[in-house]
Amino acid sequence: MKRDDFELKESRILKVAMLSYSKENLESLRRMVSSWDGAVAITGTEGDLEIAAPLAEQEHPDVLVVDSRCEHAGALGVLETTTARYPAMTVILLCPNASPELLRDAMRIGVRELLPSPADPHALLTALERVRQRLDISKSPRKAGRVMSWIACKGGSGATFLASNFANALAASGSKRVALIDLNLQFGDAALFLSDQPPQTTLSEVIRQIRRLDSALLASSMIHVTPTCHVLAAPENLAESGLIKPEHLDTLLSVAASHYDYVVLDLGRSLDALSLRALDKSETIFLVIQLTLPFIRDCKRLIHALTSLGYSRDKISLVVNRHEKGGDITVQDAERVLGQKVSKIIPNSYRAVAASVNQGVPLLKLAPRDPVGKALAELAETVETPAKSGGWLRDIFRG
Ligand SMILES: Nc1ncnc2c1ncn2[C@@H]1O[C@H](COP(=O)(O)OP(=O)(O)O)[C@@H](O)[C@H]1O
Ligand SMILES: [Mg+2]
Repeated sequence: MKRDDFELKESRILKVAMLSYSKENLESLRRMVSSWDGAVAITGTEGDLEIAAPLAEQEHPDVLVVDSRCEHAGALGVLETTTARYPAMTVILLCPNASPELLRDAMRIGVRELLPSPADPHALLTALERVRQRLDISKSPRKAGRVMSWIACKGGSGATFLASNFANALAASGSKRVALIDLNLQFGDAALFLSDQPPQTTLSEVIRQIRRLDSALLASSMIHVTPTCHVLAAPENLAESGLIKPEHLDTLLSVAASHYDYVVLDLGRSLDALSLRALDKSETIFLVIQLTLPFIRDCKRLIHALTSLGYSRDKISLVVNRHEKGGDITVQDAERVLGQKVSKIIPNSYRAVAASVNQGVPLLKLAPRDPVGKALAELAETVETPAKSGGWLRDIFRG
């Protein structure tokens, strides 16, 4: 396994630091900016205008979005020191009810855009687009990588095995770069499914260096299973996991998506602030079940939780694992109970899968003709060519 075995093309991403006096505004700004189709790394800080300068000093962002009440007359004076000290940084100021005088003063001190607060998504994203064009970032219009998450409806469903071998299948052609990131912070073991080497670096080291994280640093922190399939291992222990905050994940996933064509996440089973942040960024959420009652019960709860949190059913892709013909519960039974179509059925194949897992060798490499590997290769293919798919495939990849 070589660490520099494929060309590292540095992909420039827009660094956006956001400052708001209100937690709610900050959260809505974060959602807006994350929905932007450009590659972006976001940080958010709650506070007043006074911390604009230290924030700029610390983050060196391309764009500083300042959401302020703009109440007192000296407000802009505080910003002026920041704009003067960091002339290359674009300052976007959000103010409720900005008067023409305020607009004039803001422009005079070097604020590039004055927008209403609370922010209007269209106005804010258009402003970011202008920055992107000015900085020439749009000249390298690499489409952001597609993020896909895997969740186990219940422990032992095979979610980690499927996520890791799906990532490997996506990378198998050699033309697409794939990152598997183990976000199962408690019991992460994804790296072991594809590699027999202990990871030298894990997610926690990457998070420690988050402020200087770029695609080269990320790629060098991963195990290179093949030249195009890289794995970032989960932290070794819970104390390390505690260091990871949702905003770190925004940056990590943006950097990953700027460099890899696919970013596959193993989320384990928990729905917490971190996994929800990952799901926000995911175009597809694969839920893994087996056809027994306890799985179906937990899956029903999970689908209910996800839809209550606002994730659409279109985003959810139900995968039945370890399927055996003639079982008590049929795929149709499961679909009826769950109110959700099954998108892929993965057969049971004890010997080949156990050998792959025990040896830490991807299934497609160890047993290329095994039906489980074949099913995963088909799933990878449908993900890569959604337009050509029909029937149930349309259901998963719609939109
Ligand atoms: N399709 C399959 N056929 C046979 N065994 C499987 C299959 N999928 C998974 N397994 C087995 O199930 C075990 C548990 O899988 P794992 O991915 O760790 O589950 P989870 O992440 O959902 O807890 C694996 O070690 C593997 O041996
Ligand atoms: Mg697992």
